[in-house]
Amino acid sequence: MRYSYATHLECSLTGERYDIARLQGLSAAQKPLLARYDLATLKREVTRRDIEARAPTLWRWHELLPVPDARFAVTLGEIETPLVPLLNSHRRADFRAPFVKDEGRLPTGSFKARGLSLAVSMARLHGVRRIAIPTNGNAGAAMAAYAAQAGMEAFCFCPDDTPEINLSEIALQGATVWRVNGLINDCARLVEAGKAQFDWFDLSTLKEPYRIEGKKTMGLELAVQFGWRLPEVVFYPTGGGTGLIGMWKAWQELLELGWIAAPLPRLVAVQSSGCAPIVRAFDLGADTATAWKDAHTVAAGIRVPAALGDFLILQAVRESGGFALAVTDEKILASRAHVGASDGFLLSPEGAATYAAYLQAAEAGLIAATDRVVLFNCASGLKYPMPPVTDHMDVDKPFAGGIARRAAPPP
Ligand SMILES: Cc1ncc(COP(=O)(O)O)c(C=O)c1O
Repeated sequence: MRYSYATHLECSLTGERYDIARLQGLSAAQKPLLARYDLATLKREVTRRDIEARAPTLWRWHELLPVPDARFAVTLGEIETPLVPLLNSHRRADFRAPFVKDEGRLPTGSFKARGLSLAVSMARLHGVRRIAIPTNGNAGAAMAAYAAQAGMEAFCFCPDDTPEINLSEIALQGATVWRVNGLINDCARLVEAGKAQFDWFDLSTLKEPYRIEGKKTMGLELAVQFGWRLPEVVFYPTGGGTGLIGMWKAWQELLELGWIAAPLPRLVAVQSSGCAPIVRAFDLGADTATAWKDAHTVAAGIRVPAALGDFLILQAVRESGGFALAVTDEKILASRAHVGASDGFLLSPEGAATYAAYLQAAEAGLIAATDRVVLFNCASGLKYPMPPVTDHMDVDKPFAGGIARRAAPPP
């Protein structure tokens, strides 16, 4: 039994093969590279029982990850994240309570830990000493943390309205961080521009092949958590789309292993109406998305005007029989308040977007009452700006203003 069954990398557009033993970025066609595994041998040598018998962490899936040996893993304790049912929050009558997969429990408070743990492990294995990333916040925070753990230098480029807490956590975790007067695509250009001069390795979404392998574990976890019978619908807040593409890849691999059976979940790409290039492309029936102008949304993580993997996102959503939905920022904020007050679950704005989209989809008849639904909350709600509390109480005149319960109606 091998630790990893990874064999090679493959261009996601042309299928051209690349050596996995070497450090790789994009393919010659300038498209993402995907890791491939010897699934036939894995199927003979490993069983679902073997996986289930291990501690519930990301690393229980090591055969389906590229890290060749446990010694090379850079880890901060990547737990399997829980599925929490929203029992009290509003849903259509007779509908099952949706589950939230709470990625906020991971190191650095977001699912970016999954991808960056893998990417930093592989970069270190290949002798990289210096890494850089364009980031809306959470990816930079995770990169900084894993780089510190690995003893690497880290450089983060953030749009200047990135949540304050992200900038501070990146800095406190030892990375150099700049506010950039542009969006994430402008930050990506700066990473590119500095490559030759500063010799850093570019960890941008899908520009190296390993972040997606880490994100893939979200799909693997859902399989084991649902007893190898995947849910019917998965709502995913979509920015660069690594998680969505990664889950789709995970399920293809599990199908090939015979560990799950079709049908697979329908994937729903959720975006904000202030930045919805994938939703627009989906509605137009297009294979790729055009860049979104003047992107703005309170859900910083999904403010991605142009995604390198747009064609892969659209392909996965369509192949799964899913759909794409945009929700307004007003609905996102109302959802955060409603779920927080009803179920005691403080969603991130991106996670709140999936709840708003879930209600919208149910109203539109796009999902069925009997569907088992998973909503992804990709970061802790604690990482985002929140409305200030303005109520004061005078100890000498207590309760003068009454004690009204705060209302938080559904969006
Ligand atoms: C909280 C949160 N949700 C969703 C996303 C979008 O993830 P992906 O790039 O996999 O589409 C991000 C990305 O920054 C994020 O931070």
